[in-house]
Amino acid sequence: MRGIRTALAATTFLAGIGAATATDLEVTHWWTSGGEAAAVKVMADAFNASGNNWVDSAIAGGGNARPIIISRISGGDPMGATQMNTGRDAEDLVKAGLMTDLTALAEKEDWASIIRPAKLLDSCKYDGKIYCVPVNIHSFQWMWLNRGVFEDNSLPVPANWDEFAAAAPQLREKGVIPLAVGGEAWQINGMAGVFMVALGGVDLYRKINVDKNVETASGPQMTQVFEAIAAARDMVDDGFVGRAWNDAANMVITGKAGAQIMGDWAQGEFGVAGLTAGKEYDCLPGLGVNPVLDTGGDAFYFPKPKDNNPEIVAAQLELASLLVSKEVQVDFNLKKGSLPIRGDIDLAAANDCMKKGIAILENPDNILPGGEQTWSSDSTGQLEDLWVEFFTDPDMPVAEAQARFVEIVENAD
Ligand code: BGC
Repeated sequence: MRGIRTALAATTFLAGIGAATATDLEVTHWWTSGGEAAAVKVMADAFNASGNNWVDSAIAGGGNARPIIISRISGGDPMGATQMNTGRDAEDLVKAGLMTDLTALAEKEDWASIIRPAKLLDSCKYDGKIYCVPVNIHSFQWMWLNRGVFEDNSLPVPANWDEFAAAAPQLREKGVIPLAVGGEAWQINGMAGVFMVALGGVDLYRKINVDKNVETASGPQMTQVFEAIAAARDMVDDGFVGRAWNDAANMVITGKAGAQIMGDWAQGEFGVAGLTAGKEYDCLPGLGVNPVLDTGGDAFYFPKPKDNNPEIVAAQLELASLLVSKEVQVDFNLKKGSLPIRGDIDLAAANDCMKKGIAILENPDNILPGGEQTWSSDSTGQLEDLWVEFFTDPDMPVAEAQARFVEIVENAD
């Protein structure tokens, strides 16, 4: 077995970058749900098959994991590789010179031509050099519905947010929680962003998230967003505080709840549960109102090892190369519920929801920047605090919440 692995490693290496030594690489990520674990295993298996050793260091919850990962790297205790969101997550670490430079590999493999949309690789660039590798395209703007919950209660399966909101009281009467929500800050903040798109369209989303336009932030469309979030508050159960997103997804999967607003990684959970898109569950991009999507996602960073240990750097480059390979891209993304970062591969096995996503992204006008690309982590933290406070406190007036929102937008960096 060892012989086969070594031979494979040698082949991969020769085809790839250079030196074949079996190296342990600690990899941190926050992929701990059932679907996420199945997806990350694709990467780990590919790396192990190259003769190296993926040492898995999963940290549950993006909100927890991110600061731990950042402080380990800045504090001189770097892991071999780490998942982060594509965007500004690792901005300061890159600027501080703490990441391995992937430019030579990226040029050799022509990432600039194969990775799309181009802004994903742009997010990895600093001073003309490449410091990360995007591995998928995710979008937040989805609602996931259990069809059976509606059908069994003789209700039409909603095709948009308004229809869902109209059905919510009837679901309640039947003992079903209308909306499954997880209470972690990033989830509530993300949900607010989805309402911006659904109710105000691309225009509102861009004016707030990209232009940081103060007038729009204080305007009537944003008031509507706050009001919609207040209405959503009445559709959830008391147990939402601190609930993980995948536990909320599981409430929909098991029929305890009717729907969840969550990124397309939720598909991974439906997949692991053996449910089929369009049959047992439905997905509504842009809440069925404005089907536009952001193209955020995940990227891998490779912190500089102590003393720039060449063996570790070689293993980092080998992993980076595998992550963009066609095989890993297909298998990983099908399990993850995300879309591949390259367009030159066969995604025949994509489910109905992925196909909807692919069709939407074919029109560049439908593509939004992800929040993690447009806000610094400091501003994101302030937004998260505000939305959580507003969502959990029914006594907080919309006008007060919106005034705080305006202040955050005004001072955003
Ligand atoms: C990541 C996804 C992940 C989700 C939930 C997001 O930040 O981009 O890959 O599935 O968090 O853990």
